[in-house]
Amino acid sequence: MAILKIARMGDEVLKRVAEPVEDPAAPEIAKLADDMRETLEDIGGNGLAAPQVHVSKRMVVYRVAERQIPPGSTMKPIPWRVLVNPVLTPLTEEKKPIWERCLSIPGLHGMVPRYTKVHLEAVGLDGAPIDITAAGFHAMLLQHEYDHLDGILYPMRMTDLSTLSFNTELGETTFIVQRSPEEFVE
Ligand code: NI
Repeated sequence: MAILKIARMGDEVLKRVAEPVEDPAAPEIAKLADDMRETLEDIGGNGLAAPQVHVSKRMVVYRVAERQIPPGSTMKPIPWRVLVNPVLTPLTEEKKPIWERCLSIPGLHGMVPRYTKVHLEAVGLDGAPIDITAAGFHAMLLQHEYDHLDGILYPMRMTDLSTLSFNTELGETTFIVQRSPEEFVE
């Protein structure tokens, strides 16, 4: 496995619409997924889309670690998942602002309006179908990663740029405390 270099905002690879993965079961796709997971573990992130590691393919790796879920939430941690060729559909017209940050935009966070409930279909590395219904934080995470596959970064979704802030100005701890348990629902 290897730690991969993260593309930062401004890099052309982040602006492209990524290509579908032709063979989800190909060994190089499994290796890419392993490397993306190791990279995320190294950085301590939640999710990574292949374009963020300079691979313009429709693939996402993510998890929700227990330490990220505030006390009083109903959500359970989500173990590592690899989504190949995902298709995301909103299940509601309602959007709510939610704090986001992105490994491609280090040091910043901002409030982004996101659909509160989504459906996602994809295939796994074995080619088997994956079917996810997600709400709250989980739904935001999927929308954020899915956007990367279409060349969209979260500031492009923001409607109130006054919330775009340096993490240092609120403190990393504060950033997590700002999340409400209500965001972490099944
Ligand atoms: Ni991101």
